[in-house]
Amino acid sequence: MDTKQKARRQFLKNISLASLSFGLIPAVVKGSDGIMSGETTAENCFVSTQDYYGEGPFYTPNPPFLADGMLAGSNEPGTRLIITGQVRNLDCSEVIPETRIDLWQADDAGAYDNNGFNLRGYVLSNSQGFYMFETVLPGHYPNGGSYRPSHIHVKITPPGFETLTTQLYFEGDEYIPTDPAASITSGPYDATHRIIPLTMNNLGQYEGTWDIVVDGDGVSTGMNDLHTEKGMIYSAGPNPFTDKLEINYGVFRDAKVGLFVYDIHGRLVANLEEKFLASEKYLAEWKPDSGIDKGYYFIALKINDLQVHYLKVLKVG
Ligand SMILES: [Fe+2]
Repeated sequence: MDTKQKARRQFLKNISLASLSFGLIPAVVKGSDGIMSGETTAENCFVSTQDYYGEGPFYTPNPPFLADGMLAGSNEPGTRLIITGQVRNLDCSEVIPETRIDLWQADDAGAYDNNGFNLRGYVLSNSQGFYMFETVLPGHYPNGGSYRPSHIHVKITPPGFETLTTQLYFEGDEYIPTDPAASITSGPYDATHRIIPLTMNNLGQYEGTWDIVVDGDGVSTGMNDLHTEKGMIYSAGPNPFTDKLEINYGVFRDAKVGLFVYDIHGRLVANLEEKFLASEKYLAEWKPDSGIDKGYYFIALKINDLQVHYLKVLKVG
């Protein structure tokens, strides 16, 4: 075993100890206006697990690349669902850009397209490790004497590393407790951290955050010392917004503070704040230039150059 492998093994041990001592800490916090935010604390650094059912019978190779993240076309029946997150390495100290995330799922009625590529495709994590896709909530379909809970199949491939084949589930689904895969709460197929909460935004779309933690070559975004006790973004609203976004955030100790906006490709779009600030609550405003496209953006808070928190927002006008 080389040093790197040893370090990984030791890390996995630490992870399981950390899970024991912290118990079930939600991987997301709810902002005051109901939007979900991903936290980057060590307590929620859970290594992503494979699903008990593996690939299942309905994978079709060579799905299309979804440059805009639209897994479901705008005419697809069902309730819209937007999933975002960040791909991180095993100790969550770095993010993994260019990770291929293959997605396939049943439609609103519980049926797979096994002839074509409807509700099939892949996205890539961007330079900040962020990924997003928009789809519809998958329907239930029969399995044995019951139904499978709503789920999205995922294959995650960091550049040069092995593929993790798994499934994503949604909190509150009535079929989770009886599902042979989704109900597993320990061991290599533990689904606990692949069951994510969804909230509904004011456009009637479900939103959820799923941070993926896999073995891969990460790049530093200054997250190697994760402490939400340094500061966090409380809210960013209204969300969705058109011409003005207000961001409430807190700095918990005097520090150099940066508040940045990235687009879904990881490009820096705006630098809202970058200066030394005293421990206090702050309000920032983003009024995007007229040339800024509609779509998803990530607001990132950095304290002493460490990214401690981020929020996703949607520009609709
Ligand atoms: Fe399935």
